[in-house]
Amino acid sequence: MSEKWVFFDLDGTLTQSEEGIWNCAKYAAERMGFPTPDAGTLRKFIGPPLVWSFQELMGMTEAQAYEAQEIYRERYIVKGKYENKVYPGVRAMMRALRSRGVHMGIVTGKPEQATRDILEYFGLMKFVERISCTKDSRAEKEHLIRAVMPDAPAEIWMVGDRKFDMEGGVRVGAHTVGVTYGYGSPEELRASGAEFLAEDAWRVAEIICPGVEKPRGAFLSMEGLDGSGKSTQMEKLTETLEKFGFEVVHSREPGGTPIGEKIREILLSRENMEMTEVTEALLYAAGRAQHVREKIRPAIAAGQVLLCDRFLDSSVAYQGGGRQLGVDQVLAINAPAVEETLPLLTVYLDLDHRTSLKRRSEASQLDRMEVEKEEFHARVEEGYHELIRRNPERYVVVDARGDREVIAEQIGKAVLGKLLEEEE
Ligand code: TYD
Repeated sequence: MSEKWVFFDLDGTLTQSEEGIWNCAKYAAERMGFPTPDAGTLRKFIGPPLVWSFQELMGMTEAQAYEAQEIYRERYIVKGKYENKVYPGVRAMMRALRSRGVHMGIVTGKPEQATRDILEYFGLMKFVERISCTKDSRAEKEHLIRAVMPDAPAEIWMVGDRKFDMEGGVRVGAHTVGVTYGYGSPEELRASGAEFLAEDAWRVAEIICPGVEKPRGAFLSMEGLDGSGKSTQMEKLTETLEKFGFEVVHSREPGGTPIGEKIREILLSRENMEMTEVTEALLYAAGRAQHVREKIRPAIAAGQVLLCDRFLDSSVAYQGGGRQLGVDQVLAINAPAVEETLPLLTVYLDLDHRTSLKRRSEASQLDRMEVEKEEFHARVEEGYHELIRRNPERYVVVDARGDREVIAEQIGKAVLGKLLEEEE
């Protein structure tokens, strides 16, 4: 069987680079003394060669267009290229193609250094064997593809979002997939020879390798004392992961499923002050058993990153430590609920129990757990610290009293590091 090679356009196909491209085009136009291009004009900048765009869309002379391109690139190199995000499903698609032994390359009108920097930054370089970039801004896709096509007979695919990609692919005799989530319309893609259309990046993998399976996703949890800022950090981490093309879903414990949410009401209601410690631990575990099966495992199987506000560690800290049931008893109660389903990584927002208490007392409605006295929360804090001492490699520990942007950056870096490592 001959080898399969897939060549991808970059902008509009793997990465959504509009923000950077628009900011740089605006900057160049303004520096050249031209009026600021409107949104419609800016949209047309994505895809065609820059010099062509400055001439055709902004009425520059050829000499002005080359000068504008220089100014554009000055800003692009330092800032613009990172004002960028990976489309949802791209990582899963590239992982799946790699698992089927498909060779991948990039064919782009971008300069080579910027292309490499972007692929490196987003951790996509590991999927790519060949890169073909413009040396002069008028190079056609056909020539760019020919420059990296294998010599031996092979099955060649060109995947892109604009007519330039489809036309280039057709001219070299490749199969063509037009992606409709980028900057070209389905009509444009069809008219320029697209053999297949893909409405999302994952579909590309299914077109090229029918029946291919989605790579598994990941399970992450977020832990900390009440008031440690978990919700804020969940949002920020999600933004970061989505920028890298991960598909993120949220959940929480207690809760996460309709049954789990009913159990949550029982657990947190202040009507239930007479609940015994063991009842409490069993109820948290019961909700978890449902959650693991109904939501967490299916999400992982579907390739998603499931980010959970609290999981098993909360039981170890609150019931094991706070209620003094002990770590072993709590783990035993939870064993049939979780089986082998444990987080790949757990973010712990480290906040001492006194600060936590202060933040909590500022909240309006305290639940059944939050009204517990200070010693209880001191034991919870110690429970978490004990867990972290036992398996430090699973935790990302951050000081929850710091600046939330700084905390978000620390968490983002650590979690991305782990998720990208998992893709190797
Ligand atoms: P929640 O409203 O989620 O608290 P927060 O917003 O502060 O995270 O309520 C969950 C409460 O339940 C919280 O006080 C911790 C406690 N809890 C346990 O005691 N054991 C557990 O296993 C879980 C998941 C939570």
